[in-house]
Amino acid sequence: MHIFGVDIGGSGIKGAPVDLDLGDLADERHKVLTPHPATPDAVADGVKEVVDHFGWTGPVGITFPGVVTGGATIRTAANVDKDWVDVDARALLSDRLGGLPVTVVNDADAAGVAEMQFGAGRDRQGTVVLLTFGTGIGSALFCDGVLVPNTELGHLELNGHDAETRASTKAKDDHELTWEHWAKRVTRYLAHVEMLFSPELFIIGGGVSRKSAKFLHLIEDIKAEIVPAELQNNAGIVGAAMRAAKAG
Ligand code: BGC
Repeated sequence: MHIFGVDIGGSGIKGAPVDLDLGDLADERHKVLTPHPATPDAVADGVKEVVDHFGWTGPVGITFPGVVTGGATIRTAANVDKDWVDVDARALLSDRLGGLPVTVVNDADAAGVAEMQFGAGRDRQGTVVLLTFGTGIGSALFCDGVLVPNTELGHLELNGHDAETRASTKAKDDHELTWEHWAKRVTRYLAHVEMLFSPELFIIGGGVSRKSAKFLHLIEDIKAEIVPAELQNNAGIVGAAMRAAKAG
């Protein structure tokens, strides 16, 4: 079965039809730049452009980089325009897509469900935490394969700061941190999450998962196993489509 997945990110809006049996894209993905400011209207236009590129007419799963309740309503917008807060994104996006059925899901939760089914978390029981490092830090928490949605562990407070402002890859770029320096911050962050949840496994996702050879060996003294995400940049698209399929 194929369902369309769209991933709304800080820099790009990417999408493709997803083969849900394989957990992979069924076609080459199409990307448009995320508009700035990333207002609901402007982003909705971007999503429409991506979906129209394929002439798609079925259900669509869409990720959002903030808290999403009920597969529809946006509750926070840390890295996109604040006008998103309290918007019924399902209604807005479905309307913009000419009435196609739409499901909206937090971006890290989408990446997490894809990794648990088809990637680094396959067949893993117990507590698993997936963290995406990018513009912000996203989190997805699983117990025996079941997701606890909207955990927002990227906003834990560390040394008086919002953790994502210190340890995201944006923070690394903005402050020109070396891999060593950034890995120290990530280690401190992981130690804090470990203190709270004692996971068996950390999955490190987001664009940086492609560069795990540069930093994973620099992370020390964490008891949980730490592995890079396997679906890398496509995890959000695949997970969004999986959630849309589940929503029926
Ligand atoms: C948001 C999360 C999101 C993460 C990654 C954070 O700032 O609050 O909802 O998952 O960024 O995009």
